[in-house]
Amino acid sequence: MCLKDILTMVKGNMVRIHFSAMCVGCTFLGMASLATIVGLWTVQLLPSTGPPAEPWNEHRLPDTLVPDYYNITLWPRLQPNIHGLFVFTGNSSVVFKCLRETDLILIHSNKLNLTSIDGYLAKLSALGTSVAPSIQKTWMQETTQYLVIQLKGKLNAGELYELYTEFVGELADDLAGFYRSEYEENGEKKIVATSQMHPTHARKTFPCFDEPAMRAVFYITLIHDRGTVALSNGMEIEKVDTVLDGQPVTMSTFEPTKNMSSYLLALVVSDYTNVTSANDTLIRIWARKKAIEVGHGDYALNITGPILKFFENYYSVPYPLSKSDQIALPDFYFGAMENWGLVTYRETNLLYDPVISSNANKERTATIIAHELAHMWFGNLVTLKWWNEVWLNEGFASYVSYLGADFAEPSWNVKDLIILKDIHHVFAVDALASSHPLSSNEEDIIKPEQITEQFDTVSYSKGASVLRMLSDFLTEPVFVQGLNTYLTMFAYQNTVGEDLWNHLQTAVDKTGTVLPLSVKEIMDRWVLQMGFPVVTVNTTTGQVSQMHFLLDPESSLQRQSPFNYEWIVPINWMKAEVEQSRFWLTEKTAFHSDMKATGNEWVLVNLNITGYYRVNYDTENWECLLNQLTENHEAVPVINRAQIVDDAFNLVRAKIIPVTLALKTTKYLSEEREYMPWQSALNNLDYFYLMFTQTDVYELLQNYTRKQVTPLFEHFKTITEDWSHVPTGHTDQYNQVNAIRFACSTGVDGCQNLTTGWYRQWMDQTNHNPIHPNLRSTVYCSAIASGGADEWDFGWLMFKTATIGIEADKLMSALACAKDTTLLERYLGYTLDASIIRKQDATSVIVYIASNPDGQTLAWDFVRKNWVYMFTEYGVGSFNFANLISGITKTFSTESELEQLLQFKSDNAEIGFGSGTAALEQAIEKTKANIKWVAENQREITDWLMAESA
Ligand SMILES: *[C@@H]1O[C@H](CO)[C@@H](O)[C@H](O)[C@H]1NC(C)=O
Ligand SMILES: *[C@@H]1O[C@H](CO)[C@@H](O)[C@H](O)[C@H]1NC(C)=O
Ligand SMILES: *[C@@H]1O[C@H](CO)[C@@H](O)[C@H](O)[C@H]1NC(C)=O
Ligand SMILES: *[C@@H]1O[C@H](CO)[C@@H](O)[C@H](O)[C@H]1NC(C)=O
Ligand SMILES: *[C@@H]1O[C@H](CO)[C@@H](O)[C@H](O)[C@H]1NC(C)=O
Repeated sequence: MCLKDILTMVKGNMVRIHFSAMCVGCTFLGMASLATIVGLWTVQLLPSTGPPAEPWNEHRLPDTLVPDYYNITLWPRLQPNIHGLFVFTGNSSVVFKCLRETDLILIHSNKLNLTSIDGYLAKLSALGTSVAPSIQKTWMQETTQYLVIQLKGKLNAGELYELYTEFVGELADDLAGFYRSEYEENGEKKIVATSQMHPTHARKTFPCFDEPAMRAVFYITLIHDRGTVALSNGMEIEKVDTVLDGQPVTMSTFEPTKNMSSYLLALVVSDYTNVTSANDTLIRIWARKKAIEVGHGDYALNITGPILKFFENYYSVPYPLSKSDQIALPDFYFGAMENWGLVTYRETNLLYDPVISSNANKERTATIIAHELAHMWFGNLVTLKWWNEVWLNEGFASYVSYLGADFAEPSWNVKDLIILKDIHHVFAVDALASSHPLSSNEEDIIKPEQITEQFDTVSYSKGASVLRMLSDFLTEPVFVQGLNTYLTMFAYQNTVGEDLWNHLQTAVDKTGTVLPLSVKEIMDRWVLQMGFPVVTVNTTTGQVSQMHFLLDPESSLQRQSPFNYEWIVPINWMKAEVEQSRFWLTEKTAFHSDMKATGNEWVLVNLNITGYYRVNYDTENWECLLNQLTENHEAVPVINRAQIVDDAFNLVRAKIIPVTLALKTTKYLSEEREYMPWQSALNNLDYFYLMFTQTDVYELLQNYTRKQVTPLFEHFKTITEDWSHVPTGHTDQYNQVNAIRFACSTGVDGCQNLTTGWYRQWMDQTNHNPIHPNLRSTVYCSAIASGGADEWDFGWLMFKTATIGIEADKLMSALACAKDTTLLERYLGYTLDASIIRKQDATSVIVYIASNPDGQTLAWDFVRKNWVYMFTEYGVGSFNFANLISGITKTFSTESELEQLLQFKSDNAEIGFGSGTAALEQAIEKTKANIKWVAENQREITDWLMAESA
């Protein structure tokens, strides 16, 4: 699944207001973009409960029964019933095998009204010759989401039984299970019945053994209005028109699925249409008729074939299914979901409009498709046994999504962008004492909210980062060979992470690759302990050492590490433009004569940031690197220019080097034209902006940034011939956005006139928007910030009438840029009404407003005042919700804000914070660290900035 804009679960919208911590296009998961979320693993804080529970009070299924296949018929009603309720009706048979004798059947079922059959909630029969025991008692165990069936006699080991149920469920607009999504077309309201089973919502659609290792074959029949289209994982094999309950309907039957986990099931009924191409595998892209007719599915269609081909080659395993459907949904909680054979997406992630979409939108479409298609093998064909290893599934797909997208769009250099989007992003989170290891204990992750909490930045981005490191030190041929035997050996089965290490080890042994320890021993250091090291190189002595990198060195670690916070670190390095080599750091400290440098010679460690660690040097080497940047920055590889800036700023935060050293890494930027170092610097200066918004430092920062960004602004003005076209390079296009954004926000001459001029032109001629799609977020934001109610109202009107989700998203975030608090308050109020702001977007809007210095306090007051509402609407099992807390508190840096936060925690202790619990703890930790940081650095920063602008 693709969180994030989230990992980007902030979905789709990559716009940040003011200095944003996110790079453009940074979100991988729809909602994650704003997130720096770390699970504090709330489980550990729970007290253990008393006596052993009855089996139906346990959250895990007993090991007595396993499903073989399901035969399910569902009929979603796209009109409300007489009570005004949208429902679906259905029946399901599950054929299961008894492994151990038992008189109890536990099967997941949540929020379904089961119809009584002969006085019980289910009917049991035996297959074959034996006779099923009769039912003693059936009931719903709501806390654990079971249908419980107690039998008078025993089920026999080795026998097959069939359990039949009939039920009614609500087709709610809750984005979970079988649910309803709405949109308008030609002034007419349309309903889509669609599904999100992952991770624990299949049980809300039909009774099932809803755990990933409980694989089964699913026979699906959908009943739907004539003229609508029904889709599921398998190809549609039969359509019969009939009349049921007096209604003319079609019954669509699907090819049985492969043997798979219940969370990968998908069902959609809509009046969508598709574009299709068939070469080996049938590929179809589904969306609203209008979107398909104007060609918005074409880009996805164009790249899906190549990406599938890429993965077939990469894994050396053919695509396992007969077709690949991908569908764009108006309401969708995550960025996308890898249902096997029917992948679901937020509209904004799948559809591409050459006229309206930016290059960031296009990149996101390519990477998210690659992420989901990577799962068709890794995750679906072979599935992890349990949710404690979510990181391996999501981290893997996140890593290889860059490879798949790179294959489809080779000119983009998209593989490098993992540095900004994942590695630097997660470094910030994983450097906190409240971080957590990638992998958890299976027994700690049992409740639905604990499972949901696994889908965080650490799982996706650190997972991707350490797998990239692994592939790098094994070399890609060895890595893919191990992958291939793993996927082949465990096809249609479930595994644990260790199975992958074993297969990689076999590949290592076969190829004679030399490692200091086994794959498992090396990887355990990165997977079973949280955090990462800072490697310190002393170029005078040749000493190389490692230390756990903590943003706040005084914070107390709440967990012990089995490896004492030491890692087996692959070191690749270069020296003064020429020599390059590698070695392993296996101890806390070692000496390498190669690491000595003399004169102007410098050493640079962690080339291209293939290693998941930060680097520090002795002062002389830092000075040599800074000199090199000033004299000829291109002697340092571009990724490492971004690294030097990011490492320096973070070493400051951890009090390892003085703040002036970090500021010095930004001085050469007046000569820099590349995107990655600029984005890295802007992300880091963003922290300064967040901390100093309400202080005197703000103006000094503005002056310095203006001075540095002016040459970049002029550069783009020149190469675009006075903004008459866009630069050709993909990342140059991103950097053009940076140039305009920061030139405008710091008041570079000519910038504000440029953006307001464009916006005015649009206001004068609504049906002709003169602003290039790449620049829209920035231009809208800048024009709305400097404008008044007229600009805002126009933006709002355009937002409400936007027919394309990506355009709406850009306006949605830009509307939060207003300076007028009346407008911001009105906008906040809208988030309480789902008919004005979609539920999926409400938390994003609040966070956007909180990111605006003029909206910060308003948003915080608003959240506190409406906490109960928000908690009931968004609190439970929602990833977005953690983003809300971290987004709203990210500027907190004063004692009074800390007090307010603690007060908020105690005031709402009873209602709770649901899946935002960990985010709240983190917010408190971060606020404390911010307070200290400001106190310690404000003076020095002020002096440096004053000297620079003198
Ligand atoms: C599924 O149920 C339908 C209707 O009861 C029946 O016709 C069909 O044979 C069943 N399929 C399987 C595989 O049991
Ligand atoms: C399920 O039953 C409850 C209690 O009778 C009722 O309130 C609810 O509306 C029913 N749900 C559906 C989807 O019919
Ligand atoms: C899907 O597209 C194909 C090819 O364009 C077309 O023949 C088919 O009718 C479409 N199906 C639906 C349900 O629109
Ligand atoms: C179909 O796939 C083959 C092999 O991958 C490729 O050579 C060919 O160009 C493809 N044809 C089309 C029409 O895409
Ligand atoms: C899709 O591919 C076709 C054929 O190569 C091309 O003409 C078209 O411009 C592409 N569409 C998009 C949106 O990339």
